[in-house]
Amino acid sequence: MSQVVLGVSGGIAAYKACELLRLFTESGHAVRVVPTREALRFVGEPTWAALSGNPVSAEVWDGVHEVPHVRIGQEADLVVVAPATADVLAKAAHGLASDLLTNTLLTARCPVVFAPAMHTEMWEHPATRANVATLRERGSLVIDPAVGRLTGADSGRGRLPEPTEIFELCARVLAGRTTDLAGRHIVVSAGGTREAIDPVRFIGNRSSGLQGYALARTALARGARVTLVAANVALPDPAGAEVVRVESARELREAVVTAADAADAVVMAAAVADFRPSVSGDSKIKKTAREPDPIHLVKNPDILAELGERRRDGLLKPGVVIVGFAAETDDVLANGRAKLARKGCDLLVVNQVGAGLAFGTPDNAAVVLAADGEQVEIPRGPKEALAGTVWDLVSARLS
Ligand code: CTP
Repeated sequence: MSQVVLGVSGGIAAYKACELLRLFTESGHAVRVVPTREALRFVGEPTWAALSGNPVSAEVWDGVHEVPHVRIGQEADLVVVAPATADVLAKAAHGLASDLLTNTLLTARCPVVFAPAMHTEMWEHPATRANVATLRERGSLVIDPAVGRLTGADSGRGRLPEPTEIFELCARVLAGRTTDLAGRHIVVSAGGTREAIDPVRFIGNRSSGLQGYALARTALARGARVTLVAANVALPDPAGAEVVRVESARELREAVVTAADAADAVVMAAAVADFRPSVSGDSKIKKTAREPDPIHLVKNPDILAELGERRRDGLLKPGVVIVGFAAETDDVLANGRAKLARKGCDLLVVNQVGAGLAFGTPDNAAVVLAADGEQVEIPRGPKEALAGTVWDLVSARLS
């Protein structure tokens, strides 16, 4: 059983830390909550004490005989501060010790994770940027806040990432498994492209982006820098990812090829339209009495195949790992092997469409085929689990 210290500082997102606390306790961790005085204005001491089953104080003056300002930090296996305000980041960066949490941060020798939440202006202020850089340099993990609705009617970067995402990262830290993708730049494409017929209509597909987003989140949790090229996805941005939004296959190609130049791995999880209407006018096609005009299709670029060619031409980073996805309905393995060879990628994740799997569902099952002959079966399970296996295989090829 690990000893987790959950530091909570004074932001409106303090209430979300209750859910994070529950995720820790329900997975068997002992949690000591150390709020700041300001955090207690948002969520009171009885809530933290009842949910954690441990005494709670913001002060160094309670239970002095147990020397809590030193002991709590020394005994911790992980300290996670969520939400971390600009103030607590500044204090931690400068080594101030003005309350129990900042004392704990100074005495802890275990991994420390900060999940900042604040208004965009505060997050982007040079002082906060410098403090975050200092903390990262010292080895703390500072998760970039998510983009979305903030306290009032405004929105932007600064939201606390979902408690499940913070928990996932912490669980990996506790298991000592975070760093295998640290320092790696990974490009993931997700979602499904739309090919315009006219300004209001398109040819699209059923891809939800769930698998690509799970890949991005799990890569971030393993320390990677992630560029996520998202085609028509209605999901919240994974905290810390650089998200490039695109619509059509040609836009997706531009974004992926640009980002791939310096990438260590590229994973093409997006469902790319193979064809697009040869013309898509600026005016809406009107319903007329006569028969409708047929839609003439032309081929889209094959982005995955192009990445393989660019690698052969020496235009990508040496050692880059290229991963494709293939949704098949028949002869799944035979079609998969042929596609792997045709596209020139290192790994091809082949999933069978139908039977309640793949599109829009939280579960997936697949077989990963590798160019070196390895074949790994991934049983039906959450898309995060499939993503984890993909990163294990990528990581093994990167090292
Ligand atoms: N893909 C791509 N560019 C395209 C079409 C597909 O990069 N124009 C990528 C997808 O992102 C996926 C992989 O290629 O990673 C396989 O996609 P799939 O649609 O299964 O392959 P196709 O080449 O379209 O093969 P087919 O339609 O014959 O099954």
